[in-house]
Amino acid sequence: MINSFFWAFIFFVQHKPLLGHTCDTLSHWQAYLTYATSVLAGAQNGIEECKYQFAWDRWNCPENALHLPNQRGPRSATRETSFVHAISTAGIMYTLTRNCSLGDLDNCGCDNSRNGKIGGRGWLWGGCGDNVDFGERISKQYVDAVETGHDARAAVNLHNNAAGRLAVKATMKRVCRCHGMSESCAVQTCWMQLSDFREIGNYLKVKHDQAQKLQFDRRRMRAGNSADSRGAIADAFSAIPRSELIYLEDSPDYCARNASLGLHGTEGRECLQHGDSLSQWEKRSCRRLCHECGLRVEERRTETVSSCNCRFHWCCTVNCENCSQVIVKHVCSRKQSSHGHHTRRRVRGPK
Ligand SMILES: *[C@@H]1O[C@H](CO)[C@@H](O)[C@H](O)[C@H]1NC(C)=O
Ligand SMILES: *[C@@H]1O[C@H](CO)[C@@H](O)[C@H](O)[C@H]1NC(C)=O
Ligand SMILES: *[C@@H]1O[C@H](CO)[C@@H](O)[C@H](O)[C@H]1NC(C)=O
Repeated sequence: MINSFFWAFIFFVQHKPLLGHTCDTLSHWQAYLTYATSVLAGAQNGIEECKYQFAWDRWNCPENALHLPNQRGPRSATRETSFVHAISTAGIMYTLTRNCSLGDLDNCGCDNSRNGKIGGRGWLWGGCGDNVDFGERISKQYVDAVETGHDARAAVNLHNNAAGRLAVKATMKRVCRCHGMSESCAVQTCWMQLSDFREIGNYLKVKHDQAQKLQFDRRRMRAGNSADSRGAIADAFSAIPRSELIYLEDSPDYCARNASLGLHGTEGRECLQHGDSLSQWEKRSCRRLCHECGLRVEERRTETVSSCNCRFHWCCTVNCENCSQVIVKHVCSRKQSSHGHHTRRRVRGPK
């Protein structure tokens, strides 16, 4: 919900000045309202995916991950905020594109631009292609408009927004349908379709892991001359492909609670220890969240009783037994030593 407010707030701040000038700007405002519900739903979708992707990381995409744009003090531009920008922009583009294909929106429809043309051996373009260009254009209008600054931070955010939009395109798939006598598949028609949003999340999580820190020519930046510093920013960007996420600042220590940064720390977080179906990343969650943060793993058992071994008796009763099941959870908790919990920490990177 916080994020819904965040986006609603953005529209208000960005477009309030336009209200009440001319009819022209009023219709501009109405155009914004047309897509507002889709944009909100898309941003929410992005944040939910963020929570899924980071469920077993020290930083787990907390609600305050997006700061209000006019909040006092510098907004951080860490590896994690680069992901938040990319995934929420991707979510907005994705939802708008889906809306378009489903016919939810009046002034847009499928991408039929190539229909009827030969796509390759034995297939033609046809069907309802997802209209990503529309989603891209509208998401740009909404999301990029927030970045009004001309500094490196705004440039980084814009770059990561664009990388999120590229991720939506990069994960698209060609799907085909067979035609011809009795499914002979002599001719196929194909169209481009969005992947599941989960795939976009997976794709961007890898980009997060590989994110690059932007390096500037500090001397040119300090010269104080705005042309020079813009030049330095442009040069720094030219070294990085558009599909890659970038950040400016190293991440804080996500192990530790830090109220002024809005960080909860990993104490009290659940981790996963056993289970055949766990991924390698999940299996190491206790090490990552507890041990490497100077915490111990506490086992918490809770018992639940449910009916089981039910037998049906003719006619018509069912007798069940009560079975109690112990559910074991593992939670990071503070060591009980008198030395405090910071003494035995190992060296780690921002995971
Ligand atoms: C677009 O799709 C989202 C999510 O499916 C939905 O919540 C929203 O209402 C849709 N927008 C319109 C205008 O139908
Ligand atoms: C919180 O983080 C800031 C910035 O990294 C740091 O200066 C401060 O000492 C931290 N506070 C605590 C209580 O660790
Ligand atoms: C199972 O538990 C319920 C309530 O906890 C109890 O009323 C019932 O008698 C129990 N049944 C058996 C077979 O023990």
